[in-house]
Amino acid sequence: MARKKPRTAKPALLAVRGITRAFGDRTILDGVDLDVRSGEAVGVVGPNGSGKSTLLRCIVGADDADAGGSTLAGHPLDERLPGIRADLAVVMDDIDFFPDLSVVEHLDLVARAHAQPDAEEVVNGVLAEVGLMEVSGQLPSTLSSGQRRRLALASAFVRPRRLLVLDEPEARLDTDGVAWLGERLVAEKQAGGAVLMVSHDAGLVARVCDRVVRLGGAAEPSDVG
Ligand SMILES: Nc1ncnc2c1ncn2[C@@H]1O[C@H](COP(=O)(O)OP(=O)(O)OP(=O)(O)O)[C@@H](O)[C@H]1O
Ligand SMILES: [Mg+2]
Repeated sequence: MARKKPRTAKPALLAVRGITRAFGDRTILDGVDLDVRSGEAVGVVGPNGSGKSTLLRCIVGADDADAGGSTLAGHPLDERLPGIRADLAVVMDDIDFFPDLSVVEHLDLVARAHAQPDAEEVVNGVLAEVGLMEVSGQLPSTLSSGQRRRLALASAFVRPRRLLVLDEPEARLDTDGVAWLGERLVAEKQAGGAVLMVSHDAGLVARVCDRVVRLGGAAEPSDVG
């Protein structure tokens, strides 16, 4: 297997090695390797059913890989471990909200639970950024699907994190929302954060990602643009 020369000597924040996952006799993932360094975004792309969400779930420990594993800053990655949860913000497509907490109460709870300094200021800033200020007193069940998606993303942005793991973060966002997301993720990298994201939006991937891992085809990481 041809190996790409690492462009920097910086060790990977997230190192994924040999992730393999089969359902019954169908092997969905066959020895997937990838690295994400601080200040870098890696995209995972591929057709529906190619295993992108399965890969993210195996990486964060929400699903058990049959073989292989991941480390975050050198420690085995399992989102059930408190030390790992402090560094890892995950937004999958199935996020649940507390049904009886308003938008602002939800974000406040997440920020404080993760010991965010200046929680109130951060929550207000993110509410404005994601355009949820006007609905901040509403319960999740009264939000539109795009607003619920914005709340899910906001939940990741109000807390301290070193790595963002996002499954189709552009889903259900309007055009302005996708543009905002692109800017936000570029800013995340510039601030030294790492991003691993699944996306079907080629424009967003080109804008944000430094490298792409393609599933359901050639599995080697490749440079973007
Ligand atoms: N728990 C499960 N049991 C059986 N099969 C599963 C399970 N989870 C996923 N699969 C199968 O694994 C394959 C990959 O699913 P996955 O959700 O990872 O795809 P994806 O690349 O995220 O697709 P999409 O672009 O539609 O989100 C699919 O064929 C799916 O049916
Ligand atoms: Mg998926």
